[in-house]
Amino acid sequence: MNADVKEAELLKNPFTPVFGHEPLILAGREKLIADVLRGLDSPPGEPNRITIFTGPRGSGKTVLLGHIASEAEARGWISVHTSAAEGMLTDIAEQIERKAAEHLPKKSKSKLTGVQVSGFGFTREVEPEKSGSWRTQMDGLLDLLAERKIGLLFSIDEVTADVPEMIRFVSTFQIFVMEKRNVALMMAGLPSRVLGLITHKDISFLRRAFRRDIGSVSIPEARAAMKKTIDFSGRGVEGKALDFASEKTEGLPFLIQLIGYHMFNQSERKRILLEDAQQGVKDAEKDMEDMILDATLAELTDAETRFLYAMLGGADRVRVGDVAKNMEVSASQASHIKRKLVRLGIVAECGRGVIEFAMPMLKKLLEKEHAF
Ligand SMILES: Nc1ncnc2c1ncn2[C@@H]1O[C@H](COP(=O)(O)OP(=O)(O)OP(=O)(O)O)[C@@H](O)[C@H]1O
Ligand SMILES: [Mg+2]
Repeated sequence: MNADVKEAELLKNPFTPVFGHEPLILAGREKLIADVLRGLDSPPGEPNRITIFTGPRGSGKTVLLGHIASEAEARGWISVHTSAAEGMLTDIAEQIERKAAEHLPKKSKSKLTGVQVSGFGFTREVEPEKSGSWRTQMDGLLDLLAERKIGLLFSIDEVTADVPEMIRFVSTFQIFVMEKRNVALMMAGLPSRVLGLITHKDISFLRRAFRRDIGSVSIPEARAAMKKTIDFSGRGVEGKALDFASEKTEGLPFLIQLIGYHMFNQSERKRILLEDAQQGVKDAEKDMEDMILDATLAELTDAETRFLYAMLGGADRVRVGDVAKNMEVSASQASHIKRKLVRLGIVAECGRGVIEFAMPMLKKLLEKEHAF
């Protein structure tokens, strides 16, 4: 490799502020991942095999599901990944068929659907059209996998109770669990949607699943991940720059990538300086607004938005009672709205009757909009 090319390679930006993209260095999460993997390594019945991850936008839910799926596959499991949407059941069955076929000896890699399924040392009939039921189709596939002692991990993103197929899926999955099948289920979603799913009247089963709020990582974890990512690129970074940048992430994984990306782009110096970090944070604020905050605010009701505006104008920590006064609503109405905003991960409680913004940069954005 000539010297110029090598230099260009080294200077490539190693941060990935792209949703769903697994970063070079995963901040935190070791324990969450270790728990789930222990579940997969244990016999069916281990509770970590059914886990729901919740967290606000940009907290790294999709990335975590993807990472766990890769780890599972490295252990010889088959993993299927889909989002909760109409058509998910067909999508799941097709993915299993395709992936199971990869485990077959080459000569029998014929299509698994249709009249016959062969290659696992025997031949059996699996006719989804005739059987008419997704469950029957799944039973056939699970039997085939069981013959080979292959576990099956279902990974479902963006869960919601609004999709009837999601409810059907969970009801059927419950039967797989009762039958002690070698299966696992990882789900992820925004807190309010997960709550809607686990309180759905037809699937009380999920209420007993492990729920992990993946929220934010610690500032030292964010700092360490930023440093390792920069080290990987071949450049360096001053301690002050790292301190400043990691504080500003407030532990939100997306901001680790976004701030890191912008601070990296400020110059081509071998070492990233505090001034690069400061300008990087400014650039990141604008993208954060477009990529996360606007989408978050668009989902709120008028009353919820008014509540957020009523939190402005003073210290970071505010009393719910003062918000109620500013909004001119009763204390109980205000605490009702507060509960919803806490569930959404937008507001956090930090003492009795005291709250603060939980999403990085949100306060600043609202103040800016309020000024107009
Ligand atoms: N543990 C982590 N450490 C560092 N960066 C991370 C981590 N997890 C995710 N990221 C980065 O954060 C961004 C968002 O990740 P992801 O798409 O998984 O979020 P999400 O929670 O699924 O968001 P949404 O609710 O909008 O779907 C991506 O740029 C990803 O590279
Ligand atoms: Mg996601």
